[in-house]
Amino acid sequence: MKKKIVVIGSVNIDMIAKVPHIPAPGETVLGTGFFTVQGGKGANQAVAASRAGGEVSFLACVGEDSFGKEALEAYAKEKIDIAYIKKTAKAPTGVALINVAASGENSIAVAPGANSQLMPDDILKNEKLLANASVILVQLEVPLETIETAAGIAVKYKVPFILNPAPAQKLEASLLGKVTILTPNEQEAELLAGIKASPAELATRLVSMGVKSVIITLGKEGAIYTSNEQEITHLPGIKAEAVDTTAAGDTFNGYLAAEIAAGKSLKQAVELANKAAALSVTRMGAQPSVPFKAELD
Ligand code: RIB
Repeated sequence: MKKKIVVIGSVNIDMIAKVPHIPAPGETVLGTGFFTVQGGKGANQAVAASRAGGEVSFLACVGEDSFGKEALEAYAKEKIDIAYIKKTAKAPTGVALINVAASGENSIAVAPGANSQLMPDDILKNEKLLANASVILVQLEVPLETIETAAGIAVKYKVPFILNPAPAQKLEASLLGKVTILTPNEQEAELLAGIKASPAELATRLVSMGVKSVIITLGKEGAIYTSNEQEITHLPGIKAEAVDTTAAGDTFNGYLAAEIAAGKSLKQAVELANKAAALSVTRMGAQPSVPFKAELD
């Protein structure tokens, strides 16, 4: 039986306004369009891993409301195992308010709601699922204690643990030391490393803080990654006409996890993830923008 990729993370319904530019504080901007789509970093990464050909189980928490119901129906259509998704009456399903500018840049405000109810206990009671996973993939839109609990299980059973440290926040060395692959963007890498430096220096610093491998995503400049010998490789970006960069990082992480789960090398995994992320920015929305593997041939 194929081993599962376990994604632990957030579910959001994304409400997207297309705007000429991102409004400054106090400014009102007249938009040119509005969409509601499935989002949330955890869910986007679960969808990307599934569209990349992986067998995905998703651990998350939604509210007992119509948004939660729609999200579960959408994941089931994506062939994601939704048996481990908790439903809570304590909070509504997470929502993200997103502005997408004509340049393709975005700004995002998240109301986490039910995502804050995914607790360490929800992870502990699924220890067996995590122990048997081919890879565990997490981000930072659910409580940190929950992520730390998952990291502890990953180390206990020697399961590769991929942490996408988004949204950015400072992390303890005790957590970083449990990470097999850390995938920050440049800003997240600077915050975690506590220095402003070149991507290569940031990667070296993060490795010295206990992370096994680091991939720093650099938007249209591609990515850099540390190999087993901690040598740094730059993978150039792929030219793309960006209409919306939302979920490009999530696409990257989902593909990366699926490729690692399929036994590919870090180099092969980063190359395909980079290709998938480049295609995602040419399309609007989070989950609607994630490519299927067949589109990357
Ligand atoms: O990474 C993009 C995602 O961030 C969006 O889908 C939004 O829901 C926020 O979580």
